[in-house]
Amino acid sequence: MHTPDFGVAGETAIVTGASQGIGKSIAETLAAGGANVAICSREMDRVGPVAEAINDSDEAEGEALAVECNVRDREAVEEFVEETVEEFGGLDILVNNAGGEFVAPFEDISANGFEAILELNVMGTVHGMQAAGEVMRENGGGRIVNMASVNGQHPAPGESHYGTAKAGIIRLTETVATEWADDGIRVNCVAPGLVQTPGVAETLGIDSEDMPPREQVDRRIGHGEDIADLVQFLVSPAAAFMTGETVTAKGVPRPGNSMEHDLGLQN
Ligand SMILES: NC(=O)c1ccc[n+]([C@@H]2O[C@H](COP(=O)([O-])OP(=O)(O)OC[C@H]3O[C@@H](n4cnc5c(N)ncnc54)[C@H](OP(=O)(O)O)[C@@H]3O)[C@@H](O)[C@H]2O)c1
Repeated sequence: MHTPDFGVAGETAIVTGASQGIGKSIAETLAAGGANVAICSREMDRVGPVAEAINDSDEAEGEALAVECNVRDREAVEEFVEETVEEFGGLDILVNNAGGEFVAPFEDISANGFEAILELNVMGTVHGMQAAGEVMRENGGGRIVNMASVNGQHPAPGESHYGTAKAGIIRLTETVATEWADDGIRVNCVAPGLVQTPGVAETLGIDSEDMPPREQVDRRIGHGEDIADLVQFLVSPAAAFMTGETVTAKGVPRPGNSMEHDLGLQN
């Protein structure tokens, strides 16, 4: 009888943007599964406590290393990868989670604003993939998961820059997966729907505990763990036959309400 292997024990993973939200959940989940996790955000004061909590937790079998790193800065990303390899002796998994947005009509977005969103989401992912890919190729393979969004699959008003960036991440994933297949590197993408995080609360201008009530949205609002479980599957041996794919996780439809449509989050 065949038993699927969803394990990551003993592996080393980098998770970018892990001081809160989805990235924090991914780091906690992989560490609970026995992976050593190197996590970053722009501020050590914010990402350091996440690593400390993982290291102090009885549930986490893996260790955590916190590094201050802005993913828009190529040199800093290369140093982050080097530090991870020095600390844990290798690199098996990269999760390019750091990303973000602001909502605005296309005509109101300055060139700088548009570029900033492309730089954070697309170039942050490019820097991570190129820096980690070099190590993975030398070591005989690895797994990469990039964070897209349903906004990269379907248009939504106010999301021209973010949607462009996330659509770019999907095509980047597909393309590099074909180029690196012979190097033993699998590259996949996750496209979440609405997930309750501090970042989303800030974008919507509401308190993070105060998301739109479930009865007002036409799909269940996700939690970080919903996305973390999917990421763990994609980097595990159970997904060995998958590369270049984008997996959508957006909850079960709740017909009859237009709140998500009003927020441009209906897809
Ligand atoms: N939540 C959703 O509904 C949703 C839906 C679809 C896709 N996504 C995607 O999922 C990812 C995580 O979203 P989230 O909602 O969890 O976001 P979030 O709550 O805003 O958290 C973003 C994380 O990224 C870090 N970060 C931001 N800019 C960074 C930079 N330049 N360099 C390094 N780290 C940086 C932040 O840390 P610091 O502020 O400490 O630097 C924080 O840890 C993003 O790529 C987002 O686009 C989210």
